[in-house]
Amino acid sequence: MVDKQAKIWLDGALVDWDDANVHILTHSLHYGIAAFEGVRAYLRADGSTSLFRLGDHIDRLFDTCKLVLLKPEFTREQVSAACIEVLRVNGMKQGYLRPLVFVGEGAMGIYAPDNPARTSVIAWSWGSYLGADALERGIRCKVSSFARHHINVSLSKAKLSGQYTNSVLAKREAKFGGYDEAILLDHHGFVSEGSGENIFVARKGVLYTPDLSSSILEGITRDTILQLAREEGIPVLEGRITRDQLWLADEVFLTGTAAELTPVREVDDRPIGDGVVGPITKKLQARYFEVVRGSDTTHPEWLTTI
Ligand SMILES: Cc1ncc(COP(=O)(O)O)c(C=O)c1O
Repeated sequence: MVDKQAKIWLDGALVDWDDANVHILTHSLHYGIAAFEGVRAYLRADGSTSLFRLGDHIDRLFDTCKLVLLKPEFTREQVSAACIEVLRVNGMKQGYLRPLVFVGEGAMGIYAPDNPARTSVIAWSWGSYLGADALERGIRCKVSSFARHHINVSLSKAKLSGQYTNSVLAKREAKFGGYDEAILLDHHGFVSEGSGENIFVARKGVLYTPDLSSSILEGITRDTILQLAREEGIPVLEGRITRDQLWLADEVFLTGTAAELTPVREVDDRPIGDGVVGPITKKLQARYFEVVRGSDTTHPEWLTTI
């Protein structure tokens, strides 16, 4: 259960949590056109709070809107300010933010260009996304029988609600099979991403991740890790990865705002490396947490501190 807060920002106003409701004819409920984001806010050692790469998340929200011709009634600055406002009004020092732009009620056909574009920002507390010891011990993954979207069947660079049926089906299948997370291949059979995370593979000191022309979401954590890896002198290659390269990897990890940097200790019942979290993963995970919490001061441009 999401832990209930006092207020939700909805179309420019702060409303009580229990009153932030929509009509059953809300178009997005029926056809899945809703742009959304996930942003984390971290508590810093000095008691202040930093939102991580807020501007990049808001830019991606507006990019998703652009891709599906949604015209938000609020500007980037207003939605960014709403993110800060919901944290403040709910007295939250850290947490997860969910900006959402959705199609409201009006016409009920698939083509409903005049329905209002509505915007909300919700905040809730969210600990480790993949379980209590996932960050420390790593998780067990299964390559999914569901393929990631073909690039011309949906919009891989959009964070769009309807597209998440693919993630939900893959995740359920993995959980029903006793695994923690699904890894999806693309329609060519190459490794794509997790149900809500990008994927990295390390072998012989080199870090690999699928490139952006594949069917992956352009993850903001992915970009962060690529930059941090380069700063650490770890060679990085973006390109195709095969399933057997996963099995032969020394290290595998997943990245995402919710999942942060989660090590993978097993894929398809095979241990990755010797089944324990490897040195590249450890180094990048430590650096990631230092950067998001502001104890590493090398990337002030990524932090909005309140
Ligand atoms: C399908 C998918 N891939 C990758 C990611 C990671 O993206 P980010 O690091 O921007 O959160 C997410 C989460 O947003 C996702 O849902």
